[in-house]
Amino acid sequence: MSIPKSSKAEAAQLRQALSEHNYHYYVLDDPLVTDQEYDRLFRRLQQLELEHPGLVTPDSPTQRVGSEPASHFESVTHEVAMLSLDNAFDEEEMLAFDRRLRDKLDRDSALAYCAEPKLDGLAVSLLYEAGELVRAATRGDGRSGENITANARTIASIPLRLIGDNLPRRIEVRGEVYMELEGFAALNRSQQQDGGKVFANPRNAAAGSLRLLDSRITASRPLTFCSYGTGLCEGVELPPGQYQQMQFLRAIGIPISRQIELLDSIDDCLDYYQRILAQRDELAFDIDGVVFKLDDIEQQREAGFVSRAPRWAIAYKFPAQEVMTRLLDVDFQVGRTGALTPVARLEPVAVGGVMVSNATLHNMDEIERKDIRIGDIVILRRAGDVIPEIVAPVIQQREGKLKRPRMPSRCPVCNSEVIQQSGQAAYRCVGGLVCAAQRKEAIKHYASRKAMDIEGLGDKLVEQMVEQGMIESVADLYHLELEQVAGLERMAEKSAQNLLQALEQTRTTSLARFIYALGIREVGEATAEALAGHFGNLEVIMDADVESLQQVEDVGPVVAENIRHFFDQQRNRDIIDQLLDQGVNWPAIDLSHRQLDQSLAGKTYVISGTLNGYSRDQAASLLKARGAKVSGSVSSKTSALIGGENPGSKLARAEALGVEVLDQAGFESLIEG
Ligand code: IVH
Repeated sequence: MSIPKSSKAEAAQLRQALSEHNYHYYVLDDPLVTDQEYDRLFRRLQQLELEHPGLVTPDSPTQRVGSEPASHFESVTHEVAMLSLDNAFDEEEMLAFDRRLRDKLDRDSALAYCAEPKLDGLAVSLLYEAGELVRAATRGDGRSGENITANARTIASIPLRLIGDNLPRRIEVRGEVYMELEGFAALNRSQQQDGGKVFANPRNAAAGSLRLLDSRITASRPLTFCSYGTGLCEGVELPPGQYQQMQFLRAIGIPISRQIELLDSIDDCLDYYQRILAQRDELAFDIDGVVFKLDDIEQQREAGFVSRAPRWAIAYKFPAQEVMTRLLDVDFQVGRTGALTPVARLEPVAVGGVMVSNATLHNMDEIERKDIRIGDIVILRRAGDVIPEIVAPVIQQREGKLKRPRMPSRCPVCNSEVIQQSGQAAYRCVGGLVCAAQRKEAIKHYASRKAMDIEGLGDKLVEQMVEQGMIESVADLYHLELEQVAGLERMAEKSAQNLLQALEQTRTTSLARFIYALGIREVGEATAEALAGHFGNLEVIMDADVESLQQVEDVGPVVAENIRHFFDQQRNRDIIDQLLDQGVNWPAIDLSHRQLDQSLAGKTYVISGTLNGYSRDQAASLLKARGAKVSGSVSSKTSALIGGENPGSKLARAEALGVEVLDQAGFESLIEG
């Protein structure tokens, strides 16, 4: 069957459009069309190719789905060796690196460097002939690697065809294949669900995914490519600077780092390092340092190589986010609701720039799943402001028989029974407020910033007060006397006075804060606010049955049960009565004009920086009153970032993701509806 001319032309046009969209999306970071429009064009091309299989070409974007599994990887010899990098760990080593180069090049004046983040993935080489991707290989030992062409072809950010007219006859593009954090987390979730391999970190996940014999599976993995250089190049003269060469790659369709910069001196390099380090936690992917390369290619040649690394480049490493240390013991911490959480006691170690000696182990299931034993060497990870976490034990280093951590049958604090409720992972101490740990946590929560916001009543102080029997419940806070408080450790008369004053001043609060402060299981700020807004009055909430509680947004059967259970405890009712007697109060809520139009339903906003005339909580309430959600972190699902003055790193993230940014005026027009 011959292919109609019109279909041929349409397929060519679609391919052209799709490749242009890919380029705008992956290389320029500036999409031309929505994802839906892209999908529509893609499906149309798929349909045409299905109707006329003769139309399929190897560089068609529909061919990124992978192919029949291979039996093994062919070996590939690199025509130009793939080198590795020397490392620097502090400024002194960086200055020494620059000095060595200036000596070698016999230069007094500053040297220019091209700088990029050091991506934490694996190096690959992509060979393009006449603009077409003909081979992809891993770095291997630097001389030869594995032919992974079928797998590389499934990675959307690797162009199958370069763009432009003046393309090199042959060009080898080098760069890193890696996995973004969001994709990594999603992959691990689905791996865990399907009983597959759970990866320790994005790097391992990227390596494992790229080296699969079945490229159809690789196609389903969220891999990304970013180039940092070239290998061989024939048929065009590349520009004489590293930075310009990278811009050339970008112009022919190769994704390069958004953070790439040309710097005038080693001092600017040190400054660049600090800037990227400050952005580290906001980036969508792991980086483990920055790489500096002498910009002038002629100077690179002159500087030459030592063994397997160039003299003209260096990786200035960040503090490691993953380290190994020994698990000394596992203790159990009792939380506000009695839940016992295993906590790892570790041989102290620096990770992500701070000393760590404790890490959460989440729950017993996790300990079992990871097969963590007391005495193991473990991999500890601390990324950003996330609490330190044990990734996995290093089984190879396990010696002798090590004990598995065991949940105690009695509470380590109050010796009450510990039970596991059916269908729940958590173990709980049944001691309730008899348990000093639960009392302490309940009081800390009551005083916390988003609850009653009692300034000066920190965790250490609460602990002392409970231990010395000064307070049993939150209601006792309002009986505290000056001498009592001033007599506590690290308390002076002045700070005691301030605390009593803070207690006095925070007596007037809002219903939502008060409900949140009670510390009902699974009732967070959002739920507390929804309850306050729905019922308007504490007595009504306290007496509401499970059905009417479920009328409130986001309150499901479990939370409704928790609320009911909380108010069914006479002791909780007594404490609330005492608090009200002590003068805790809030303005009545007028429900008469509760129904604002819900014009922002389905939208999610992130607030950052300061807005004139609105606290962040107020701004959030105004948005929520119109049906919007307010989130703490920017993602691709964020409808807009509301950036007041000094919006900080969230602004950078929003810009990176192409999320709309609203200023004060934009915010006000939103809430005016
Ligand atoms: S340049 C001759 N630039 O780090 C220069 N490497 O430790 C060779 N890497 O094998 C590499 N980001 O896999 C360079 N911006 C970057 C990089 C980078 C990550 C990796 C690469 C290399 C390894 C060396």
